[in-house]
Amino acid sequence: MLNKVADQFCKLTQYLIKLFHWSAIFFYFVVFKFNSKTIGIHPIKPNFDIQSNSQTMQKLGCILFFLALPWISIAQPFVANYDEAKVPVFTLPDLLVFNDGTPVANKKDWDKRRSEIYSIFEKEVFGVIPEWKGHVKSTLVSEKADALDGIAKRKEVRIDFMNGERKVSVMVLIYLPLNSKNAPVFLSYNFNGNHTTTLEPGVLLPDSWVSNNKEITDNHANEKGRGSAASRWPIKEIVSRGFGVATVYYGDVDPDFDDGFKNGIQQLFDAKRDSTSWGSIAAWSWGLSRIMDYLETDKDINAKRVIMMGHSRLGKTALWAGASDLRFAMTVSNNSGCGGAAISRRKFGETVGRINTAFPHWFCDNYKKYNLKEEIMPVDQHELLALIAPRPVYVASAAEDLWSDPRGEFLSCVFASPVYELLGMKGLPSNVMPELNTPLIGTIAYHIRPGKHDVMLYDWQRYMDFAADYFKLKK
Ligand code: GCU
Repeated sequence: MLNKVADQFCKLTQYLIKLFHWSAIFFYFVVFKFNSKTIGIHPIKPNFDIQSNSQTMQKLGCILFFLALPWISIAQPFVANYDEAKVPVFTLPDLLVFNDGTPVANKKDWDKRRSEIYSIFEKEVFGVIPEWKGHVKSTLVSEKADALDGIAKRKEVRIDFMNGERKVSVMVLIYLPLNSKNAPVFLSYNFNGNHTTTLEPGVLLPDSWVSNNKEITDNHANEKGRGSAASRWPIKEIVSRGFGVATVYYGDVDPDFDDGFKNGIQQLFDAKRDSTSWGSIAAWSWGLSRIMDYLETDKDINAKRVIMMGHSRLGKTALWAGASDLRFAMTVSNNSGCGGAAISRRKFGETVGRINTAFPHWFCDNYKKYNLKEEIMPVDQHELLALIAPRPVYVASAAEDLWSDPRGEFLSCVFASPVYELLGMKGLPSNVMPELNTPLIGTIAYHIRPGKHDVMLYDWQRYMDFAADYFKLKK
């Protein structure tokens, strides 16, 4: 949907530029010639001694034409490359070599190298999170002991973030298997409101801004959306297998549009902005850490077993949250693509330039330096996965989701593996892209399934298998 909007926008811009271009030509040739003839001056040899109408028109035409030129060159519609033969030959930054060229030899070295890489991602990609000076309060809003036909406990917890007079509230919806304080919990943002993840009538609608769609025209959630994303949230299956789910509407933390960082939690920080300031992905990721702060206080939850999971832009967010907050025991990236798990230097599907143009608020401004210049980036996305080591990370692709570059997502797992191995863990067990529905499972895991950009039951089942092994649950 957003792709379509961005493409329409691109077409409209192009149309306006063409209009501008032809007006310039019109001014230059028609108006100028017309004026030349009427006042009898030869157009090639204007009389520069006299400020005639024709000279003014000529200058105006030239100015308009030259003003239009840069736009004509930059606003060509983006055409994604889907041809493997056109992927450029690339050299990735070496994970196991310090910025000064010294090799990384052992675990201790890796801790230092990790800080170097983390700091580059902060300053050049996602942006630096400013210091939080406000305070936070959590309130249990509802509780139901027999949710999901009696198999789960459900609760809603509101977390209020306050700084002076300013306040932002975030609602966490939690489902836990009955009588299990030890259940691993998938923590995952949802796209349209907690009520869209379930058909259960009691779950509250968000108060915050939501994007419009067929059912919403005033940026406010309504009842029609209840359960509309339930296919992505097989909560009953998840709970039946002994896992909990905690989900939050990502727009509660930061509404997903380019507003100059004035709404969402960013309004609660006083920091001035510069080219390293945080974008929305960092804001959403900060929100996940604050939700983790709450989970650590919830007696029903074992916070050492929280699995960070996200789809698409929220998969990018999950990876950055997993890299930033070592409390997350495991990270799952579902179809995260550009800026997530996919190697940027491949320029396959969505590119850095395209993502920065369509979503200028997601990353820090420095990231825009790499528009069309991925090869000079000081990091690439395999390093984002490596930042999560030695904790387990699962990356998943969908065969029809070429926009997210499945092969690039797979290769990130391959190229992050040496760090896992250095830390005594198993990397991805193969460097050959697997067949569909044939997961590769090491401490880094990968699968590609048939179908589109989405989260399906198959994906969840693989994540649960992976987590069940890691946490030694009965299958
Ligand atoms: C767009 C965007 C992707 C993103 C996706 C999503 O397609 O280009 O980078 O992952 O939206 O979040 O749904």
